Amino acid sequence: MADLTEQQAERVAAAEAVDGWMRTSELRWLAQQADGKDLVIEFGAWVGKATTVLLGAKKVVSCDSWSTELGLKWDDHHVKPGLPFNRFFETHRQPIVDGVLIPYVMDLAHKDFRDTLARDYGGKGDLVFIDADHTRQGVTRDIETALRVLRPGGVLAGHDYGEKDWPGVAKAVEAAFPGFEDIARSATHNRGRGPQLAATIAGHRYTAVLPGGSIWALVPIE
Ligand SMILES: C[S@@+](CC[C@H](N)C(=O)[O-])C[C@H]1O[C@@H](n2cnc3c(N)ncnc32)[C@H](O)[C@@H]1O
Repeated sequence: MADLTEQQAERVAAAEAVDGWMRTSELRWLAQQADGKDLVIEFGAWVGKATTVLLGAKKVVSCDSWSTELGLKWDDHHVKPGLPFNRFFETHRQPIVDGVLIPYVMDLAHKDFRDTLARDYGGKGDLVFIDADHTRQGVTRDIETALRVLRPGGVLAGHDYGEKDWPGVAKAVEAAFPGFEDIARSATHNRGRGPQLAATIAGHRYTAVLPGGSIWALVPIE
């Protein structure tokens, strides 16, 4: 992986101090991907560890229920943001005040919320990062939603690929993008022959990558 710029390294160092489940290698890759982008959209922010590095972008939309339990009720998500949101807000107060970070309180499982998100940000995300419901069904649904808000040619990525606790993640990715695993694993043996095609999204050609830790990603073939 290329060296980080000073600012990217500062963001990674700041992110290390925030609660969460991201490894340093994953934060580094995300910091590089987000840097300078117009809009990054993340699904699953918790208290905002990954958010800290994604804020290298000009704008970040963080989608989460911020519910202390996943059995989110349609009626109470606005009035009871709960402890995770308070911590997210405390960590990221300034970018929220500045309008750079938009906390988007939503239940990704709920169609009306997904439609509203697509209405607000359809086709605009330069990077969409999925780290919310880790079941196969949840990741499948979140990939579908991500494709609605991804800019044509933007990067689609997610977390916890290959983690034994979350077998549904790899299954959902493979089902959405057949051949993902083979292409991503063979990339290191493919030097000089160019990246293999894993998917065509909105007319753009993508290859599959596993850039480190448990991140999975589809990146456009230049
Ligand atoms: C693993 S955590 C995200 C960690 C975060 N990316 C970080 O850097 O620490 C998963 C998050 O997804 C959220 N989540 C799970 N299911 C969701 C759903 N259906 N709608 C919205 N958010 C959801 C949870 O509230 C939780 O904050």
